[in-house]
Amino acid sequence: MSESDRLTDSLNRPLHDLRVSVTDRCNFRCTYCMPRDVFGKGYKFLRQNQLLSFEEIARLVRLFAQFGVSKLRLTGGEPLLRKDIESLISMLADIAGIDDIAMTTNASLITKDRARTLRDAGLQRLNISLDALDNDIYHQMNDVNIPLKKVLDGIEFANNAGFSSIKVNMVVQKGVNDQDILPMVRYFRGTGVILRFIEFMDVGNHNQWNLDQVLTAREILEVIQAEFPVETKQASYPGEVAKKWEFSDGAGEIGIISSISQPFCGDCSRARLSAIGELFTCLFASSGFDLRNLVRADQTDEEIAQKLMQIWSARSDRYSEVRFSSENIGRPPGTSQKVEMSYIGG
Ligand code: GTP
Ligand code: 5AD
Ligand code: SF4
Ligand code: SF4
Repeated sequence: MSESDRLTDSLNRPLHDLRVSVTDRCNFRCTYCMPRDVFGKGYKFLRQNQLLSFEEIARLVRLFAQFGVSKLRLTGGEPLLRKDIESLISMLADIAGIDDIAMTTNASLITKDRARTLRDAGLQRLNISLDALDNDIYHQMNDVNIPLKKVLDGIEFANNAGFSSIKVNMVVQKGVNDQDILPMVRYFRGTGVILRFIEFMDVGNHNQWNLDQVLTAREILEVIQAEFPVETKQASYPGEVAKKWEFSDGAGEIGIISSISQPFCGDCSRARLSAIGELFTCLFASSGFDLRNLVRADQTDEEIAQKLMQIWSARSDRYSEVRFSSENIGRPPGTSQKVEMSYIGG
């Protein structure tokens, strides 16, 4: 694709990264994402026939690739709950222009075999959510009876399966799991797994987000530096979400994702596709553009591509920056209900 074909939004940001949610279901009930009182027995999850089929997803990805998307991330809910996700990965790996396929998962379903089938299908990278090593805090935060060992084993199987990178994401909530920052660093440093800390964010509408519960990137770094000297590391690509540090003794790197204290909308090249084919141009958007309708209404590839171009060209989202500068922090003026994280993925 030539520079002149490169699609940019109204703030001159290219489209580079597509995150595809393949299900809104999850086997965890993390309190900051799917609190059980909302996502309990009566919650109406999407029905199978509402979900985009693998063929429909692959068709849309082919069109996105024409506009410069080369990086894909499969998310959920929990993407490993979607039956035969390996077939989808193989289909996506064959698409011209797609050179990076990653997945965000809680790792509880990764067995030794599963790690291999995912890798063999063409999955290159895994980002795994784990918020604590303390058993009580772990269960308090994900609110299910799945043993911590299952996730730790899943991480180890993944780490031995030849993925090009494994990252562990820890959402830090002040007063909830901040005492586990150092134990997590001690556990993962030197293993090749990159540990990243995420500032607790005001995504969705139900997680009782409160600025008082945010431990900022600077505070997180201070905790780490008290025991482990680290030096800043260059970003790997423009617009990288995490800021990175290397352990001075060579034991690897860590990352911190500071959407609250240091927003990074200026370089945001990420589009998100929901499991039913709505295109969201921001993690904090209230609604998406219905692409499934176009796909199922027998529109041609050219017609759908035209629509994608229109949507991205008009994009002006910069929620985190607006929130940062807003007095009404947490809910910029005019914000209505936001999409749920479990619906659109991370
Ligand atoms: P890679 O660099 O490809 O590994 O991706 P990543 O760093 O974006 O990783 P991941 O998708 O695991 O993102 C980690 C977390 O960062 C997510 O779970 C979100 O909490 C947050 N995040 C990712 N993208 C965005 C974004 O566009 N906006 C905001 N505000 N937060 C984001
Ligand atoms: N704040 C920060 N990160 C969140 N995630 C989910 N909800 C939140 C939140 N409120 C992260 C998870 C996982 C990814 C899917 O999104 O920890 O890494
Ligand atoms: Fe937790 Fe991820 Fe499931 Fe949300 S989607 S409940 S963050 S495991
Ligand atoms: Fe991108 Fe929206 Fe996140 Fe800003 S808040 S970085 S625009 S997804």
